[in-house]
Amino acid sequence: MVRIICVIDKNFHDRVIAPSLLAADFSCLREEVSRAILAGADWLHLDVMDGHFVDNISFGPAVVQTVHETNDIFLDVHLMISRPDHYLPRFIAAGADLISVHVEAEHDVAETLRRIREAGCQAGLALNPATPLSAVEPFLDQIDLLLCMTVVPGFGGQAFMPEVLDKITAAMQIRETKNLSYHIEVDGGIDAHTAASCYFAGANVMVAGSSTFRAPDMSAAITAIRNA
Ligand code: DX5
Ligand code: ZN
Repeated sequence: MVRIICVIDKNFHDRVIAPSLLAADFSCLREEVSRAILAGADWLHLDVMDGHFVDNISFGPAVVQTVHETNDIFLDVHLMISRPDHYLPRFIAAGADLISVHVEAEHDVAETLRRIREAGCQAGLALNPATPLSAVEPFLDQIDLLLCMTVVPGFGGQAFMPEVLDKITAAMQIRETKNLSYHIEVDGGIDAHTAASCYFAGANVMVAGSSTFRAPDMSAAITAIRNA
């Protein structure tokens, strides 16, 4: 299978807005994704949950493939699953453009990241609020994106955790000091207010579910996050 390698822009100052499908109306996914694209979404964030790594089950590769086949937008797939190495081929085949795996999951992190890139996808590494930055430092030269969770993963609509801001800044400083090349993404409780704090702390990719898909005006909500 020939993959069109979607190289993401390495400008870490422009904001990337990635609505989370978790907050969409699952009864009409094709229309919801089209609505997000028309509202100005840059990427679409797909929160995959296995009911084991997190205490919730969302959707799997079939939904990723459906979105890939029915809409043309960069698919930022967040695997909140215990065995990302085992399921990786199915998400690659489904059409993921970027795959983020958790450092806390049960796998050989470096090998999983290598396989993601080998398949032509961008590689992301995610860490939970309680996980120290030291846990991901050995891998920062092997990723295109660092996902700093700003809630405990498992559910949308949770309150933003401001204690993660220091970690975001530390990650940005390491990137600059070591001349590394990874976007910093935040996920959980992101709206125009918290997005501003995250951006000025060093993050540029904003995952937002409730504040975009459930806003009265999705386009205004995305613009407010982009300009906050
Ligand atoms: C947590 C999920 C949520 C979701 C966004 O496991 O990853 O963070 O993407 O949720 P909101 O934007 O509704 O807080
Ligand atoms: Zn997510």
